[in-house]
Amino acid sequence: MKFQIRPLEEKDIGEIVRGEEAIFGTSLGFDMIYSDLKLNPFAHYLVLEIDGRVGGYIGLWIHDDTAEVVNFYVASKYQGHGFGTMILDFAVKLCAMSKVKTLSLEVRETNEAARHLYDKFGFEFSHKRIHYYQDGSDALVLIKNIEVNK
Ligand SMILES: CC(C)(COP(=O)(O)OP(=O)(O)OC[C@H]1O[C@@H](n2cnc3c(N)ncnc32)[C@H](O)[C@@H]1OP(=O)(O)O)[C@@H](O)C(=O)NCCC(=O)NCCS
Repeated sequence: MKFQIRPLEEKDIGEIVRGEEAIFGTSLGFDMIYSDLKLNPFAHYLVLEIDGRVGGYIGLWIHDDTAEVVNFYVASKYQGHGFGTMILDFAVKLCAMSKVKTLSLEVRETNEAARHLYDKFGFEFSHKRIHYYQDGSDALVLIKNIEVNK
């Protein structure tokens, strides 16, 4: 198996939209990802490529010293093999290099796997967004403080 983490390219978007729909039941959508890629200087999307296919991705918005995770998944068949840890580690290092001090994200309260991963990375609970998701479930907003290397 060959894998790498690299910047998103236009050719990846269709696969990512299908991947998001399979995992979340919904997607950011082609147009939003496309315009982020082409027009948004604050957007940084990273793809985990496995054997030439998209095995996962993470989207970040980095603005001054704050950053936000827009979306993040590892395809079901590759979960549990350390790829999520690898992508998040890459994203945190990118933030540190960009002098980001706080990285935030939203996670479904019931999402044990993701919450476990974020715990491991030192994300801390900030606040809850009630009925945030379409099915009425709540989101937790988590924040990680990043040490900027001087
Ligand atoms: C969350 C997600 C990205 C993690 O990716 P992954 O490749 O499975 O992560 P890893 O293999 O690096 O595992 C990370 C940790 O989560 C744990 N984990 C994985 N699946 C788990 C599960 N179903 N329940 C509990 N913990 C789980 C692993 O044991 C590991 O912890 P450890 O290092 O202490 O053993 C992946 O599960 C996913 O894409 N889920 C669906 C989409 C999603 O929830 N995205 C995040 C939205 S906020």
